[in-house]
Parts: sequence; structure tokens; C-alpha cells
Amino acid sequence: MKMWAGRFSKDVDSRVNDFNSSISFDHRMYREDIRGSIAHATMLGDCGIIDRAESEKIVEGLKGILADLENGTLEIDLAAEDIHMFVEEVLTKRIGDTGKRLHTARSRNDQVALDIRMYCKREIREIQTLVRRLLGAIADKAEAHADTVMSGYTHLQRAQPVTFAHYILDYAQMLMRDLSRLDDAYRRTDVMPLGSGALASTTYPIDREQVAALLGFPAVTMNSIDGVSDRDFVIELASALSILMMHMSRFSEEIILFCSGEFAFLELDDAFSTGSSIMPQKKNPDVAELVRGKTGRIYGDLQTLLVMMKGLPLAYNKDMQEDKEAIFDAIDNTKIAIEVFCGMFETMTVKKERLRAAASGGFINATDCADYLVKHGMPFRAAYKIVGGIVAYCIANEKTLEGMTLEEYRSFSEIFDETIFDAISLETCVNGRSVIGGPAKDSVLAQIAAVREVLRA
Ligand code: ARG
Repeated sequence: MKMWAGRFSKDVDSRVNDFNSSISFDHRMYREDIRGSIAHATMLGDCGIIDRAESEKIVEGLKGILADLENGTLEIDLAAEDIHMFVEEVLTKRIGDTGKRLHTARSRNDQVALDIRMYCKREIREIQTLVRRLLGAIADKAEAHADTVMSGYTHLQRAQPVTFAHYILDYAQMLMRDLSRLDDAYRRTDVMPLGSGALASTTYPIDREQVAALLGFPAVTMNSIDGVSDRDFVIELASALSILMMHMSRFSEEIILFCSGEFAFLELDDAFSTGSSIMPQKKNPDVAELVRGKTGRIYGDLQTLLVMMKGLPLAYNKDMQEDKEAIFDAIDNTKIAIEVFCGMFETMTVKKERLRAAASGGFINATDCADYLVKHGMPFRAAYKIVGGIVAYCIANEKTLEGMTLEEYRSFSEIFDETIFDAISLETCVNGRSVIGGPAKDSVLAQIAAVREVLRA
């Protein structure tokens, strides 16, 4: 018999029962549900809405249920409609009719809004911890490779010299923005909706601020209809996770590319790569590929939530029950992706000589060669044209800019003297770019310090 069976003359069709039920996925909010109920029951007692003795009995009962779920002596009953009904049913079974007073001045609509907010708050902090761990790993690796010269790319063509440290510190910038986006999402999630009731609040003299304080919320929602019908915070979280995973996916794509034999800039540890069932020589970057692949499903979760909400009239509609699987999926997959990625990243080998060789062969100091002429008085466009001719000459003669003789240089312009060789050495090219945000060592060390500062905060 349903708790709401009073006005019905028939049992619900078993297919409707299964279709309607959310316990198979919302049971994971049992902690939030019970903590929320403990705060609610405490407040009901303090406000004299129920007897203090009954309030205490309810709180004790709820604590017992929480303990028994944690230690495995109580199992979730998948026949229950949802986690809220389940907890209330067990409570009433255990403490008798007093249990039936818990739902005074409350609806499942504000109850579920509370639970999902509490759940998201906890998960946001956990995800931030994982992002911080990855940031720390990036800072460590950057420190070890502050002098590892490589080429930066545009259009996937070798462009200008940077260092491996500077390169990966770009991802640190992305992840630090992700941390702050998650903070923003947290702030708007951190508002307490209980007391909104089904949609029009309640006539009981409840103390919403007490409940908020007991549960660690700094504020309460200010419109009871909004309190039960708002899922912006779920969408914001899914959106922040989509952007975070977009970054993880780009990082993964580069690791996959750089592990290919054609680049061979990186080698993954055996513990973080996989073999082929048929090709004995293979060592595949499956972890990075899966991170890239999972990104699509996180976008799908965001899409699910946006479409779920777009046509809903106020206030609560059952459609909103669909928010949970989507956000749980986004949270779970983001967490596992960062965690495994972190292990892969920490253990991978950076092949300095390969990075160096690729950097030497791609004329990535051509801009610096032109700048040399400019610094000796030539207009940039003229210098650009001369160096274009030098590069064409090098390609025809299978030479690098470093490998040209001074006579060869002087055949292109009388301005060149022996200082050209130092001017186009990759170290000079990198360390000359010492503006704020540049790849020079001092700038890179400043970037690392900024990451460490965020990790300390
Ligand atoms: N299981 C429901 C959900 O997740 C709880 C709220 C049910 N409210 C209602 N009026 N049926 O959304």
C-alpha cells in the first residue's frame, strides 16, 4: 500500500510502479536525506510543532537507520518508491506512529530539492580535491621540465619554441578556471530550500533559518515556488563539469598524439596503457582515449538536463526526477576520469631528446631570425621576406637555420654577423620571451608559484 493511497480505490499498475520508482538511483542520497530529516525533526521539536520527546525519538530513529545503512545491517528496499519514502517507512516501522510525524510541514518536493543540493555540494568539493591533485602533478612536472625545450604548434604545424613546462602549464590555467567555476556553482547550490513545502510553503511556524544553520547552509531560498522548481544548480554543475572535461579531453588528445611513434614525445607507464589482442607490438593510450570519449557523455548529461527543464511549468513536475541519473553520471564519470588521468600523467615519461629534435627541425626560430634583422634596423616585413627566402634555401639544401654558415647568411643580408647563431639558439629564443605569461624560465617559475598558491588556499 502506498503512503499516498488514501484517495485511490485501486492499487497502482505494477508497470507504473516500476516506471515511477527512483530508488534504484536516488538511494545514493540516503545520507543527505537522513541528515536533512534530522535537522527538520529537530526544528519541529524546537518550534513546538511536535513534542520535544517525539522529535528526539525521531532523531534517534534516524541516526539508527543511518548507522545501519552504513554498516550494512539495513538494506535498501528496491520496492520502495524512492529514498525519501524508504527512510520514512523504516522509521515508522522502527519507532511506531511517532515516525509519522516527521513529514509535518514538509513535502517530498522540498525534501528532494534539499537532498540533491546537499549531494551536489559534497561532490563539488570532492571534484575540486581531484582537480587540485592534478594541478599539483602538473606543477611538479613543470618544475622538472622548466628547461625542456619543445616546439609550440599552431595548425598542428611547428610554430615557435616554448618549454614542456610552459606547455602543460596552459592546462593548469584551464583547471584553475574550472576550480573557480565550481566555486561559483557551489555558491548558488548552497541555498536551503526546505520549508517551500509542496510549492506554497506551510502554515506551521517553522524556523527555516535554524534548519539551514543545522545543515551548514548560509542562506535559505526566498520564493517557495522557486525552492521546489529550481534545478539551475544541477545544470550549472553539469555545465562546469562539461567545460572541465573539455579541458581533460584536449589534454588527452595531445597525450595520445604525443605517444604516437611519429611524435614519440611521451611514453606512458605500462600500468597506464593497454595492449592489443592481435598486434603484439602495440601499447595503446586507452586511458586518455576513454577520458576523451567520456567527455561526450558528460555533454549528453548537460543536454538531458537542459531539455528536461525547458518546457516545465511551475512548480514541481515529475520530469525533474530525471535530473538525478544525469547529474550522477556526470559526477561519477568526471571523478573517475580525473583520477585515472592523474595516475597516467604522473607516471608518464617525457622524452626530452625527441622534443628537442622536433624543435630543432621545424624552423621554429625563423621569427627570431627575422627579429634579429629588425633589431638591426630592418622593417619587419622586409626581414620576414628575407628569412622566408632563407627557409626555402634550407629546405632545398636539407639544412636547419642553426646549420647555415655565416657566409650563407651574408649572401641573404649583409646585416648578419656571428651573433646570429646565439640569437637563433632555441634557449635564447625561449628565454628572450620573458614577458609576463611567456615561456622564459622566470615566467614559468612564476606560473608554477601561482599554481602552488592556489593549492595552498
Ligand atoms: N522521487 C522524486 C524525485 O526524485 C521525489 C519527489 C516526488 N514528489 C512528488 N510530488 N511526486 O523527484
